[in-house]
Amino acid sequence: MPIVDFTIDGIRASAEKGTTILEAAKLYGINIPTVCYLEGLSPYGACRLCSVEASTDGGEEFEVVASCTYEIHREILVKTDTPRIRRIRRMLAELLVASAPNVKIAQDIAARIGISRVRFKMEDNRCILCGLCVRMCEEQMGGRALAFAGRGTNRKVSPPFSKKSETCFACGGCDSVCPGKIIPCQGVKTPGELCGRCLRPEDMPFCCPMGTFGCFCERSPL
Ligand code: SF4
Ligand code: SF4
Ligand code: FES
Repeated sequence: MPIVDFTIDGIRASAEKGTTILEAAKLYGINIPTVCYLEGLSPYGACRLCSVEASTDGGEEFEVVASCTYEIHREILVKTDTPRIRRIRRMLAELLVASAPNVKIAQDIAARIGISRVRFKMEDNRCILCGLCVRMCEEQMGGRALAFAGRGTNRKVSPPFSKKSETCFACGGCDSVCPGKIIPCQGVKTPGELCGRCLRPEDMPFCCPMGTFGCFCERSPL
């Protein structure tokens, strides 16, 4: 596989042609937040939390791209942590935690990105529309028993044509990757509250001690 040189956060780097920016960043120890990405499943590009800035003209112009879907095929410049990117991530994290405050990854992302206040109405959605279940079913389990249906606020995951699927063989693969079904954030005491206790050591005994449940912390970055 041909190798491509590129620059990421000022580091001269190289990767196999076709590697995504997200995968390449990991190789160089650069952590980019993700929600709808899971190694082993095809990237989906839905949450945009993994946004970075990329330039293919030597730095004249930068565009915002989803690092999980953007493949490196030629020399590029990548910046993963700029004021523009921080603004985008803050807005997306705020919308995510407002939509699903009881879904742990939403609280983890909000804490990691430093959201201390949510300007939007807190809802109680359990599905964050990450599409992991759909891809898990189709790509790893061969089920093709799930699909997205509807648009906008009516968008949801359901069996194709909203009918009980004949192709579901109850393997549980979809459940195993669903962020809405894993242990909820242990720090939320009042429904809909913004947690962030994993970043305040004095609150940790009341929350998850030392990231036991996988919260963002030094030992367990998202
Ligand atoms: S339980 Fe059914 S819907 Fe879920 S991954 Fe398995 S086959 Fe697909
Ligand atoms: S049901 Fe779970 S895995 Fe599927 S899209 Fe919703 S949050 Fe993601
Ligand atoms: S992780 Fe890249 S768009 Fe969701």
